[in-house]
Amino acid sequence: MKHITLIAGARPNFMKIAPIIHAIHEAQNNGADISYRLVHTGQHYDKKMSGSFFEQLEIPEPHMNLEAGGGTQAEQTANIMVRFEQELLANPTDLVLVVGDVNSTMACSITAKKLNITVAHVEAGIRSGDLSMPEEINRMLTDAITDLFFTTSELANNNLRQAGVPESRIHFVGNTMIDTLLKQRPNFKAPAIWEELKLSEKAYIVLTLHRPANVDEASQLKAMLDEIIENAEDLPLVFPVHPRTAKILEGLNVSHARLHMIEPLSYLEFNYLVEKAKAVITDSGGITEEASIMDVPCLTLRDNTERPETIELGTNELVGTNPENIKPYLQKLFAGNWKKTQPIPMWDGQTATRIVEVLKNL
Ligand code: UD1
Repeated sequence: MKHITLIAGARPNFMKIAPIIHAIHEAQNNGADISYRLVHTGQHYDKKMSGSFFEQLEIPEPHMNLEAGGGTQAEQTANIMVRFEQELLANPTDLVLVVGDVNSTMACSITAKKLNITVAHVEAGIRSGDLSMPEEINRMLTDAITDLFFTTSELANNNLRQAGVPESRIHFVGNTMIDTLLKQRPNFKAPAIWEELKLSEKAYIVLTLHRPANVDEASQLKAMLDEIIENAEDLPLVFPVHPRTAKILEGLNVSHARLHMIEPLSYLEFNYLVEKAKAVITDSGGITEEASIMDVPCLTLRDNTERPETIELGTNELVGTNPENIKPYLQKLFAGNWKKTQPIPMWDGQTATRIVEVLKNL
């Protein structure tokens, strides 16, 4: 019997873990001797950041919720580690599987490894080279102690090879976030704002911002919003606001008739909006992948990316964090010159099945 502990902590983890759980259920139905325990660290705890994702993506109730959300980077990481160690001591496991690059990913992998438990990392090997991002530190530390690397791209494989990881431990399987996107695409549903604003296809822009570099400094956030509003022609801007960004916006007097700030949306509602948008402007990594698969122009307000395939093959462009850069990219968008997407190797909806195949045969 193989027993696996799966970790989910923050919003972008949920779409990555859902297909793995479904693939384990399928393997079990086919007689495989594999079981799992789902641990939610509680890093994200609002219904809008967590609960609705569990419902829509049909993720079972976690076996354990560590309720270690909130606090500073160190407080959150430490709380997750202390509580996850207790969880592992009480519930021994053969392998801990972490996904993505959030604080929960790093905290749980370190805790597991120090208890001599095998660690598998899904979305291993990607690098932005930007150590000012907590996610980059999380990626580097997690991969430094991971045993089994499940990767999304050839570039990730090369990063790992260069770091001395033996080929036998690298499994190029594709992207579980895209498994979820392809499965759920027929279920996307219009959020209330669609009717409220009488939105129509390709006649609005979706905006998301939450990176500390963009939102923690109020003047930077305001400058970006002003540039976007000024250069988005007459299109409405729909901005589902992340809790971190909401705290900063409270103290800022930003308002404009075309800027619609709303609560975070559920998965199916958010992707309905993205699929039908003229473009998405974001500082998220996952959204660049989803927009690429749906062939929606994506403007990334960051100076680097750990997902260069979304630029080379997808619809993503790195606009940077200087607000002055926004105008030329929006001009290009409105001139109708945006690139079309091309297939990305292995992003085919079958990634989780490949992962579980490897886990079964360990
Ligand atoms: C985290 C991830 C980031 C991911 C993002 C998506 C890390 C280092 N970063 O950033 O990679 O792209 O999630 O959302 O792990 N909060 C709420 N309700 C919640 C969750 C958070 O109010 O459900 C508040 C927290 O208390 C905190 C702030 O939002 O004040 C930020 O949350 P945190 O989990 O620390 O990091 P994120 O910015 O969400």
